[in-house]
Formats: sequence, C-alpha cells, structure tokens
Amino acid sequence: MSTPLNILAIETSCDETSVAVLRSDQNSLQILSNIVSSQVKLHAQWGGVVPNLAAREHVKNLPTVLGQTLEQAKINLEKIDLIAVVNGPGLIPALMIGTNFAKTLSYRHQKPLIGIHHIEGHIYANWISQSISGEKIKFPALSLVVSGGHTQLVLMRDHLKYEIVGQTLDDAVGEAFDKVARILNLGYPGGPEVSRRGTYSVGRGANFEISLPRPMLNSGNFDFSFSGLKTAVLYETQKHPDKLKDENYINAVCREFQEAVSEVLIKKTLKAIEQFQPQSILLAGGVSANSHLRENLGKNLTEKFPGINYFIPDLSLTGDNAAMIAVAAHFRWQKMSQAGKKTTQENWRTLTANANLKMS
Ligand code: KG4
Ligand code: ZN
Repeated sequence: MSTPLNILAIETSCDETSVAVLRSDQNSLQILSNIVSSQVKLHAQWGGVVPNLAAREHVKNLPTVLGQTLEQAKINLEKIDLIAVVNGPGLIPALMIGTNFAKTLSYRHQKPLIGIHHIEGHIYANWISQSISGEKIKFPALSLVVSGGHTQLVLMRDHLKYEIVGQTLDDAVGEAFDKVARILNLGYPGGPEVSRRGTYSVGRGANFEISLPRPMLNSGNFDFSFSGLKTAVLYETQKHPDKLKDENYINAVCREFQEAVSEVLIKKTLKAIEQFQPQSILLAGGVSANSHLRENLGKNLTEKFPGINYFIPDLSLTGDNAAMIAVAAHFRWQKMSQAGKKTTQENWRTLTANANLKMS
C-alpha cells in the first residue's frame, strides 16, 4: 500500500476564501477539512463581485481560514506533503493573494507547490463522488462545466488530458442566471434564487404563457450562447412591467428560463455523447447545484444512454472550494516523475497567477 499524502489546497479565485486538507492514496480520497469563507454578503450590496474588495477580504481571511482548516483536520503544516493553489483563471487581484500566500507557505515550510486550474478543480470534485459511491469514472469522460465564468463541454480521454469540444460564445450559464436575477430584482448571486423559484413554480404561474428562445439548439456544433436568452428575459419583462410585482409571474419567468437553459445544455451534451462515445458524464461548476439540471440530465441519460455512468458533485462541492483543488492536485502528483516532483520544491520562486490561464 502507498503512503498517504496530506495535501493542503488554497482557493481564492473569486469571492470565496477556501482552504482544505485532503488525505489521499492510490485508492482513496478523504477530505479532512474544507473550510469556505464566503464574501457573498459583502459583494451583494454592489450587485456583483468587486475584485479589489475580494482581494482585501482574502488577505484578511486567509490566515484565519488556514488555522481553522488545520485545526479541524487535526494536522500541522509540518505534516503537509504538498501545497496546491488555484493560480487561474479568475479575478487577478484575488488570485494573486492566494498564490502569494501559498508561495510563502511553500518557502517557509519547504513544501512542494503546484498550481491548479480552477475548472480542473471543478471537474475533479466528481472523483470525491466516485470515491464515496465506489462506482469508477471511466475514460473517455465528458464533463459539462457550468459555472459563473465558464460553460464548456470538456472531453477527457485520460486524467489531466482536456479537449474543449464546445463552449459559450458569450455569457456563461451562471452569469446568465445572475443577470436574469438582477432583471427580476432577486438579489445577488441570483442563480440559487432563480432555481428555487423556477422549481417552486411547478403547478403555479400556469396562467402565464412565457416562451423564451433555446439559443443555438440546432447549431450543429457544441457551442452555446446565453446572452440573447438573458436579453429575451429583459424584453419579456419590459412588455409587462406591471407584472414584476406578481410573484407568480416572476416564478413563471424563472421556470421558463431554467427550462430553456437546461434544454440547450442537455441536448448539446446528448449530441456530444453520440459523437465522442464517452463512458462517463460529469457535471461540474457552481450551476451543477441546480436540481432541475441535475435531475433532467440524469433522466435523459438513463433513457437514451443507459450504459453510461453519470456523476454529479456532492452539493457541498459544487461551488468554489479548496477540496476540489486538492483532488486535482492528487492526480497531478500521481502522474509526475520523481524528477518532476523534485522541481515543485522550487515552484515558490516562479508560480504566477494568470487571470486567463488555459487548461492543459
Ligand atoms: O463555480 P462557481 O461557484 O463560481 C465560478 O467559478 O464562477 O459558480 C457560481 C455560479 C453563480 O453564477 C451562481 O449564481 C451559480 O453558480 N449557481 C446556480 C445555482 N447555485 C449556484 N445557478 C443555478 N442554480 C443553482 N442552484
Ligand atoms: Zn468556480
């Protein structure tokens, strides 16, 4: 049996300060602690994340969150074998704080350091579900990535090998949810509220005939576009400004919007399955918390591709968190040669944050 590895991971790419400790070996992944300190209330008053404010909060929060994480994991820094940090993509002031914090820890405690791509982390959150369920993720695996900044179909023929087969040409799905919430005066971040109202309105709001477009549904490729859908919601509400006070109307808009988004995402995923013949489907990113999408993708897969394995992250791991970063780091470490592992001891000198980091 291999010796377990204690991985400390740090995530500060947007408005969550998160630190986690993962104990991993070749056969198991165990989250010892995963603390997420959210700044959502602070940014809500501005209607979105303010990058410099986020960075200032990360500076304030990181030492405390690190302390709490180590305490909960009942471990100290000397027992950590590897430090992982998200170095992109994301908000540059926010990324820089986490990256520099990780570099300082790596230097002071002489620990290897690796940078992890934020979306890679979201995808790898599914390996925790795999670990718990006992069912194995088999390659090729196709991930539907839906977050506040990304909407992509990512094909993996093996660990850490990513091929983006389709992506949004404009807004990401989470961004569209948040913008629709703003149009409907539902606060920030609006995704969970639009989702709650969209689901709640089943059987209600039936008096409203709202019909939104399904953008690029038959485009013949795997790309998406959600900006027009958001604008269609705006036009719909401008036609009926008086109805914006009617809860049933708002719920009905949320339901139709959620259905339009899910229909496009699911149909394109099914088409991509026909073309790429993956053995596993993974849902990833903040919008993977959406119950309508989780359930309907599952139903469609059971009906049309019964042989395929479907994985969704645990609800505690759908949003930004450091545990998913640690899982990705585990697989990166496993694939490294001894010489490669040695060079990570010196990464504190060179690792940089990159707002537009590409997954490779
Ligand atoms: O992955 P994430 O936490 O951060 C980014 O990497 O962007 O995703 C955040 C996005 C936000 O836009 C939020 O509104 C959306 O995920 N979101 C949801 C739900 N929960 C979070 N969207 C739809 N339904 C949800 N239940
Ligand atoms: Zn994210």
